[in-house]
Amino acid sequence: MRKTARFRNDHRTAIAMNLEPNTPEPAHESIDTRCVRPDRVTEPTTRPLVPGIEWSVVYEFRDLDHVDAVYGGTEAGYVYARDGHPGAARLGAQIAALEAAEAAMATSSGMAAEAALFLGLLRQGDHITLGKGLYGRTQVLVAQDLARFGVDHSIFDPCDPDTWTDGVTLATKLCFVETITNPLVRVPDLPRLAEFCQSRGVALAVDNTFAPLIARPIAMGAAYVTHSVTKMIAGHSDATIGALAGSVEAIAAIRPAVSSFGMTANPFECALALRGMATLPLRFRKACENAQVLAEFLELHSQVDRVHYPGLKSHVDYRIASQILEGGFGTIMTIDLGSREAANRFIRRLQGRIPFAPSLGDVMTTLSHPVTTSHRGLTEAQRLALGITPGLVRLSIGIEDAADLRADFEMALGV
Ligand SMILES: Cc1ncc(COP(=O)(O)O)c(C=O)c1O
Repeated sequence: MRKTARFRNDHRTAIAMNLEPNTPEPAHESIDTRCVRPDRVTEPTTRPLVPGIEWSVVYEFRDLDHVDAVYGGTEAGYVYARDGHPGAARLGAQIAALEAAEAAMATSSGMAAEAALFLGLLRQGDHITLGKGLYGRTQVLVAQDLARFGVDHSIFDPCDPDTWTDGVTLATKLCFVETITNPLVRVPDLPRLAEFCQSRGVALAVDNTFAPLIARPIAMGAAYVTHSVTKMIAGHSDATIGALAGSVEAIAAIRPAVSSFGMTANPFECALALRGMATLPLRFRKACENAQVLAEFLELHSQVDRVHYPGLKSHVDYRIASQILEGGFGTIMTIDLGSREAANRFIRRLQGRIPFAPSLGDVMTTLSHPVTTSHRGLTEAQRLALGITPGLVRLSIGIEDAADLRADFEMALGV
């Protein structure tokens, strides 16, 4: 067998790795050993244009001084992928830039970002206020799972300042809302809510999943932003991933909980999210434009009882939305078709064109039915209190040609 130079004898690689260059090559090395110790090829002088996906669970140290330096923070380095890896760091930096935040970390899902915030920040006896109209699973996480850890909550209407004090006590540590609520796309006055929270010593956290680029809650006074990166940011329904942004100090304080509960994003999903993020501005702006055109069309359609879209002058929060959203009103709208039967007919007629797939944020337009999917975990009474009726269909508008989408809807609404 031809013997290639082992890394221990290779000067350039040895220097790159800070190894002893003259470490002697082993005299005998069977193929069994060679299989598990492949050659370290010479470090190239060029870099890949696209960063690689670092699969490694663990990182190698030179010696004990090196391990001390990395743990002590005097030398940069990774140790164990559950604590951090280059892909998660790259995505964190991109999310921080997107949100004008000091720092951000990538988590294994949008729910993991929320769980990281709650588990990293709250303790038994604390209280959290929740904006009405949150994603269904967020409500379940707080009402059922956090309750088991002794964290209490109360619900207020983020669009009604008269309710903001509801339930707030000295134990209230966090207030959690969405930039655009789900599924009725209400838009709270975030700067005013942030001011209120600051006056009460409560940290405001905003799930900005529906409004990347068009809203920057941290600049409006929020302490934390969460994202289901799974949605618009990754953008292709092929990665389940999330992110939490905040100050350097806040993110550093939450990081240990992310490691303990095993919530770090994996390298492959980070790479997919980074790839998606490169086209986020193009995709999202186009989808916002499509959404505006379609909302205006659907609002005038005789078979649609009501269109909920903050870009319509008829929307209850149009004024606030115009003030706080920049460059579009988002890609989510909800239409009321009056009954479950009408919603079902609409969904069936669109099969093969617009999928009934209970998520959002894909390049392709998809639709969902809140009663049977995202808000299924709530009781009927809870749903009705939120205005979620069986005739509601939520549309996540994509980047197709708007005229084609309009034709699809026209066909599906035809009598
Ligand atoms: C607004 C919002 N926040 C959070 C989540 C949870 O995100 P993930 O599915 O990535 O855990 C979702 C999921 O649909 C969502 O719509």
